[in-house]
Amino acid sequence: KAPTTRNFKVWRGDESGGELTDYQIQVNEGEVVLDVIHRLQATEAPDLACRWNCKAGKCGSCSMEINGMPRLGCMTRMSTFEETETVTITPLRTFPIIRDLVTDVSFNYEKARETPAFAPPEDLAPGEYRMQQVDVERSQEFRKCIECFLCQNTCHVVRDHEENKQAFAGPRYFIRAAELDMHPLDTKTDRKEYAQASQGLGFCNITKCCTEVCPEHIKITDNAIIPMKERVVDRRYDPLVWLGSKIFRR
Ligand code: SF4
Ligand code: F3S
Ligand code: FES
Repeated sequence: KAPTTRNFKVWRGDESGGELTDYQIQVNEGEVVLDVIHRLQATEAPDLACRWNCKAGKCGSCSMEINGMPRLGCMTRMSTFEETETVTITPLRTFPIIRDLVTDVSFNYEKARETPAFAPPEDLAPGEYRMQQVDVERSQEFRKCIECFLCQNTCHVVRDHEENKQAFAGPRYFIRAAELDMHPLDTKTDRKEYAQASQGLGFCNITKCCTEVCPEHIKITDNAIIPMKERVVDRRYDPLVWLGSKIFRR
């Protein structure tokens, strides 16, 4: 199929402000949005800033908003759009702008640092770790995360409320908590209590927008957030569980 010339609007600017700029760019069959950005850099806009790395949907760098939807630029085929449609490319909205399509995602790294690390029992030496295959499989889904932060960008708790950022770790770190909670050798931290008390799990009202945008199709809400919430509720409101935890913690 012959190349076509298509209309794009790309956000250009920095932390002091910016605007959508119109471009007409050639698109070849089979191309993705990141190809178009590279063509733009090679022609009209050599100074256009965009983060990318693998072009294979695995590094999580090329997160952007395409026609308002948080997506990976390298995994969004141009064939998704009508030929006459103007494709609008903007940076992630939830994080501070550095330049053009590049945002400062350090919020996520701060939340990662705050999450207590995997901690096995002290009397277990490296090499003595044993766990069942079933336990390995349970957390595999969460290990697929490529840290694209599309879920973090989408969740309305922080997207619309800058002031919530301090108290809310976000869906990516809820799946980390769930993964460690399911790990039979992670015995030192009460992940449910931590998620509730420090990660702001209670802010999540299960809108599932995070799950919808995850390029790895991790069932963030159903398989991580809801089970964690249920277990927090069990612990707090079930008198027997409460009594048991009091007795056995002594
Ligand atoms: Fe990206 Fe999914 Fe990981 Fe969120 S959970 S950072 S959307 S891969
Ligand atoms: Fe946010 Fe996902 Fe909960 S979008 S509100 S973390 S279900
Ligand atoms: Fe690596 Fe898109 S460039 S995920």
